[in-house]
Amino acid sequence: MSPSATTTPVTQTFKGQMNDNGHYTVTMVPGDGIGPEISASVKRIFAAANVPIDWEEVDVTPTLKDGKTTIPEATVESVRRSTVALKGPLATPIGKGHVSLNLTLRRTFHLYANVRPCRSIEGYKTAYDNVDTVLIRENTEGEYSGIEHEVVDGVVQSIKLITKDASERVARYAFSYAESIGRNKVTAVHKANIMKMADGLFLQACREVAKDFPHIQFEEILMDTACLHIVSDPTQFADTVMVMPNLYGDILSDLCAGLIGGLGLTPSGNIGEDASIFEAVHGTAPDIAGQDKANPTALLLSAIMMLRHMHLEEHARNIEQAVLKTIAEGKHLTADLGGRATNTEYTDAVIKNLTA
Ligand SMILES: NC(=O)c1ccc[n+]([C@@H]2O[C@H](COP(=O)([O-])OP(=O)(O)OC[C@H]3O[C@@H](n4cnc5c(N)ncnc54)[C@H](O)[C@@H]3O)[C@@H](O)[C@H]2O)c1
Repeated sequence: MSPSATTTPVTQTFKGQMNDNGHYTVTMVPGDGIGPEISASVKRIFAAANVPIDWEEVDVTPTLKDGKTTIPEATVESVRRSTVALKGPLATPIGKGHVSLNLTLRRTFHLYANVRPCRSIEGYKTAYDNVDTVLIRENTEGEYSGIEHEVVDGVVQSIKLITKDASERVARYAFSYAESIGRNKVTAVHKANIMKMADGLFLQACREVAKDFPHIQFEEILMDTACLHIVSDPTQFADTVMVMPNLYGDILSDLCAGLIGGLGLTPSGNIGEDASIFEAVHGTAPDIAGQDKANPTALLLSAIMMLRHMHLEEHARNIEQAVLKTIAEGKHLTADLGGRATNTEYTDAVIKNLTA
């Protein structure tokens, strides 16, 4: 299998400062539903592995300010200070005038690139072996710009906003990320045959940036063709980093997660210039919240990505091998992976598998 996308550092420079005690402060947003349980699991494992991190726990209960969703000022300040956060899932309030809190966080901290590595996990059999995809989604514009209006009764318009600047920024990140994980190809996923101007501009930006990375091959693929190829044989994408506009990234990243066994095993990083937020991509799982049944693996793998971003490679490697070994052993799996273990039992097993 090719090197894991999570085995090398995320490229946007980590700007956090070490405290006097030799630790880094990391903002922790436990989140809602199962969030506090899986966050506690990460904290226990990190403590057992002696990771030099002081957690600063904050709350993101939304408030409405001038009709807009805002995050508490203390939370914004914490992330600005630490420049890095680990975030549990957040319940999106429905019908209260709030926009998604996840969207608010992305906008507040200009988290322009969403990175999603999906790699087959030994011991958890799915229809596909050797999946090793890396997908980078433009996170700030496209179909998620929120610009919608009613033209006349029964006719609405939803605007897909694409800018050269944001396209170039995410393309540059994709090329640098490919470089950092030793992949020599970047593939832009698009529908420029239909959206000639919007996706055309995105593609053009990728082509321009590609010129600055002559040692990295650049390919283009239509979104529909990419879906067909990924589900036919995902190994075709094990040597590339895929980059795409927002909506395609949203869909394709869940499709890739499905290939390795679902969202419970999928980490992600939201990378910005001033701060980066790492999070599990699953939701708050209200059906199992408070029952010690949640699988903390996705948040743990996200926390491992975060450690690499912070250049704490040795700790990342130790915790990663413990997680993969625990899953491969198959004795302490949570119900979503076909086992009967509680979150606590799984967490204990991971701690036992840490190297001293
Ligand atoms: N990143 C985020 O913060 C995020 C992402 C998606 C959904 N949400 C929010 O979460 C809430 C619930 O959404 P949903 O029910 O559509 O999706 P969900 O991901 O919460 O749950 C879907 C199914 O997967 C299971 N599941 C999810 N994570 C699990 C884990 N770690 N361990 C074991 N089982 C797990 C759940 O029990 C459920 O059966 C909504 O309010 C939604 O807005 C938040």
